[in-house]
Amino acid sequence: MNVLGIETSCDETAVGIVQDGQKLLSNSVFSSMDLHAQYGGVVPEIAARSHLEVIEDVLQASLDEAALSWSKIDAIAVTQGAGLGGSLLVGVLTAATLAIVYHKPLFSVNHVVGHVYANYLTGGNLANYTYNQRSIEFPVLAIIVSGGHTQLAIFNNHLDYFLLGKTLDDAVGEAFDKVAKILGLPYPGGPQISKLAQSGDPLAYQLPEAKLTNPYDFSFSGPKTAILRLAQQEAGKDYNFPSFELKNYLNQSQKANIAASFQYSVVNTITKKVQKAVQQFRPSSVLLAGGVAANQELRNQLQKILSKENFLYPDLKLCTDNGAMIATRGYYQIISDQKPVDPYQLDILPNLKM
Ligand code: KG4
Ligand code: ZN
Repeated sequence: MNVLGIETSCDETAVGIVQDGQKLLSNSVFSSMDLHAQYGGVVPEIAARSHLEVIEDVLQASLDEAALSWSKIDAIAVTQGAGLGGSLLVGVLTAATLAIVYHKPLFSVNHVVGHVYANYLTGGNLANYTYNQRSIEFPVLAIIVSGGHTQLAIFNNHLDYFLLGKTLDDAVGEAFDKVAKILGLPYPGGPQISKLAQSGDPLAYQLPEAKLTNPYDFSFSGPKTAILRLAQQEAGKDYNFPSFELKNYLNQSQKANIAASFQYSVVNTITKKVQKAVQQFRPSSVLLAGGVAANQELRNQLQKILSKENFLYPDLKLCTDNGAMIATRGYYQIISDQKPVDPYQLDILPNLKM
């Protein structure tokens, strides 16, 4: 069964085609990131306009890459939420229209859940992808770390899952992006911080850890503010000094130490919560997902504590937003007997929760 997945929740216009929930046939992604970089974050109107401009080309590119025509597509899956309203609309209306004109069953996917399913891809036609070879067993502990979400969830099967904890303020990727901004690094900041951290001392500064009622919840605004205060102190400025000018008063070694300490603190926080969840819920498989799953230090530290579990993370190109993860998730909804949605009724859900 070939499922075509459409993802437009943020700044990536993405269409992927996946066979039987495991074989990657195509993965076309257009990012409007360059248009947002000068603003230091995604501008919703610009993102939505860009989706409109490129969605048809991305769709065609995906079909071409898979060498398939519409007659060979069995179902369409689309991100319904969470995400930016205007961006989601482009994907949902496109998917609904295609479902109507080509008579295909349509399935709506939760974006955050979709990220987890990038781990189910075990092979494909595309060059330069690394696939997970081990099979995934329930219960699954999912660690979803992205620019918009930070969540721990347990899946008992494809349709039965519950949230253990989530961020109460900033998502982890968002915190990386904000710290990068203080250090004068371009958006998106996650990859920049991890690169700079390689030349810094992770123990140079100790950052506070939030004490939360639910031990599985996260809070990254504390560490982020601590970084701001630290940068002001290191720059010899007081707390009124504008954060965007601090970069001019910090030398390279101070910046590297700040990046390394921040990354260390965040990775340590996530790792400790995962360790606790593993002890309590004894998952058979642990799946890392979302844009921050690209972080090598996070992968390394989790691998250390998950040596006995089946610990998987997707190829770098499948960690950030893509249509293949949506197609894959759609497939598992289909084989779990979920009914298709009515394309005439499907609405976006910008605040969709897990
Ligand atoms: O999943 P994603 O593409 O978008 C959302 O759905 O949010 O994640 C993007 C986020 C950005 O905040 C980016 O800074 C972060 O993932 N990111 C990283 C790394 N690569 C991307 N964060 C830390 N280390 C990385 N290597
Ligand atoms: Zn995402």
